[in-house]
Amino acid sequence: MTYVLAIDQGTTSSRALVFDRAMRVIATAQQEFPQHFPASGWVEHEPEDIWSSVVGVCRTAVAQAGIAAKDIASIGITNQRETVVLWDRATGRAVHRAIVWQDRRTAEMCAQLRKDGAEHLITARTGLIADPYFSGTKLAWLLDHLPGARARAERGELAFGTVDSFLLWRLSGGGIHRTDATNASRTLLYDIHKGEWDEDLLKLLRIPAAVLPEVCDSSGEFGITDPSLFGAAIPICGIAGDQQAATVGQACFAPGMVKSTYGTGCFMLLNTGSKPVRSENRLLSTVAYQLNGKRTYALEGSIFVAGAAVQWLRDGLGIIKQASETGPLARAADPEQDVILVPAFVGLGAPHWDADARGALYGLTRNTGPRELARAALESVCFQTADLLDAMFADWPEASAQETVLRVDGGMTASDWTMQGLADTLGVAVDRPELRETTALGAAYLAGLASGIYPDPTGFADSWRLEHRFTPQSDNATREKRLARWRDAVRRTLSA
Ligand code: G3P
Repeated sequence: MTYVLAIDQGTTSSRALVFDRAMRVIATAQQEFPQHFPASGWVEHEPEDIWSSVVGVCRTAVAQAGIAAKDIASIGITNQRETVVLWDRATGRAVHRAIVWQDRRTAEMCAQLRKDGAEHLITARTGLIADPYFSGTKLAWLLDHLPGARARAERGELAFGTVDSFLLWRLSGGGIHRTDATNASRTLLYDIHKGEWDEDLLKLLRIPAAVLPEVCDSSGEFGITDPSLFGAAIPICGIAGDQQAATVGQACFAPGMVKSTYGTGCFMLLNTGSKPVRSENRLLSTVAYQLNGKRTYALEGSIFVAGAAVQWLRDGLGIIKQASETGPLARAADPEQDVILVPAFVGLGAPHWDADARGALYGLTRNTGPRELARAALESVCFQTADLLDAMFADWPEASAQETVLRVDGGMTASDWTMQGLADTLGVAVDRPELRETTALGAAYLAGLASGIYPDPTGFADSWRLEHRFTPQSDNATREKRLARWRDAVRRTLSA
């Protein structure tokens, strides 16, 4: 029993990775699944697609690794956060498609909450803000719109969960209804200070407590798989939302350590230790992980478009065939042109939280072409990261640009050009680790820790290996000038 299977259920694909005792990846499988856009700003997933893709990749990865299910000590789950699944406890079938974190259908409900002065309570208890991004208003929408759902929920017939809970329910053959504190902290219903579901918020959003899962540590036994799935009963011993799992995978265990993950969006988390820091700059306070009943907190900056800007170059504009072409194209851009892309395709996240803003391009000339657009797309990711880091420095005065090092992971970090640009834009060093499967590693680690095959956090932190450090090469004046142009472009793009 010397392997750990990590399930990484993301926004556009499900992945499974097998880690050996030395925490090396020995097999990987990935499967994309369909996205549904039933109305403008709405994004849904079919829970059966999520489920079948997860089972499929697990079986493929285990076969590829050439191991038997009985050799797997435990499973760790990490997942797209905030996405809401509501299912029937009797059948295990969802009563509606999952409403995805990107979905903006509850923008009006959130505006009303702000108008009613409820945001103060929400922030005080959950560390979040009244934005459609989080699960609470999405769940309320389902209970309001599905005929009979609220009454069924009150009778205890329905179960709510983020994707981790839904997978746990299914993997365990039904009946285990749990989540971990990191996922609970994204629901808008969880008091992150007390570590419990908040009755006032449940009342505010009219959510019956009977639908809620039990909240557990991120590392510990959540349940055991139904043996008919993989041929053996495997304990599920780790759960964490994907950004928190990446924080663990990057071994950001000490206060002041910060990581940024570049996937569809970009999520920066700064470990703030055993006390949540209340942001004065529209960042979120969230649970980074919970071990042995002890919560560690983080400040989080969430931006919705990072890799999605590159996808736009590929699928929207058709100027590249694959993401890896973007860096070389951007490098060849005309240095005399100042094209700026504000990629507010689905509004702007932190620190602006403007759900109604839409994307804009500035500085176009007759000579602007694919190269300048590619550079603008990559630079937009660097600029947005700079806004997050500035907000973090303001909220966390102990940090300084001289001492801060940003640990990065995710698809876009493969580009040296982008990572050097990031260091130059931020004015801080950017560290890229050897093992870039940080999210899956975090989930595997949480599971392996509980099953006793992986070291304690200090031992794990010692195993983190740097692949490349990008040090800032741009002078301060140039950096400030570029950032001023970006901020002016953002100001012109905001909806109000
Ligand atoms: O909060 C949303 C985040 O968890 C989604 O991450 O990697 O699936 O785009 P990803």
